Amino acid sequence: MLTQNLPDFWDSLYSENKDYWNFKKATPALLKFFEHPSCPKTGSVLVPGAAFGYDAEQWAIKGHDVLAVDFSPTAVDELDRLSRKYKNLKSLDLDLFDLSPKDPKKGGQLFDIIYEYGTFSAIHPGRRDEYFEVWYKMLKDDGIIISLFYPIVNGNTFQGPPHCTSEGELMARLGGIFDVIEKIPAQNSLPDRVGKEEFWILKKII
Ligand SMILES: C[S@@+](CC[C@H](N)C(=O)[O-])C[C@H]1O[C@@H](n2cnc3c(N)ncnc32)[C@H](O)[C@@H]1O
Repeated sequence: MLTQNLPDFWDSLYSENKDYWNFKKATPALLKFFEHPSCPKTGSVLVPGAAFGYDAEQWAIKGHDVLAVDFSPTAVDELDRLSRKYKNLKSLDLDLFDLSPKDPKKGGQLFDIIYEYGTFSAIHPGRRDEYFEVWYKMLKDDGIIISLFYPIVNGNTFQGPPHCTSEGELMARLGGIFDVIEKIPAQNSLPDRVGKEEFWILKKII
């Protein structure tokens, strides 16, 4: 069976125009967040599950060195196109669970910033701790996670992807690994996401 752990699952959604997450533009809430005082002005950025790279592109335009990772061939084609356009944006065709700071073919460095939107809710919920371990492994000790968690729907569950989460679940999973430094309500959310998403700024517990 084709599961969301496999690139073909995602590639089929792209090829059948069922890519419900693809708004064909950068995330408006991210563009607004760029104006927030807590948004870093410099630093390398890792974007796991970057899809067509609209948000990764915005980080590159803002001047950051960006590594955009995806494992769907359709998405990687788009990321490759962006990497030819911006010399500070690199694309990587890889299962994000295989990222490694030591292997040049699998990321090969630690990052100042990891930006997350829509990947946490795309992966199987059973792999969430593993995903946070990837963040931990790929982030510099003084780096930050900028995660726009969606959908935060306390008390509700629904089939995914996107798989929902709750504040309680996030605190339980992050505890002992990351400190939650700040929670910033998203502004300019897409209409059906209003009130269901929030930026969380995390730092590694060393
Ligand atoms: C729902 S989309 C969200 C993409 C993007 N972050 C956004 O908000 O538009 C999930 C993306 O993550 C990619 N993805 C899912 N699991 C992955 C994995 N294990 N490794 C790499 N990419 C993955 C999929 O191919 C897809 O492009």
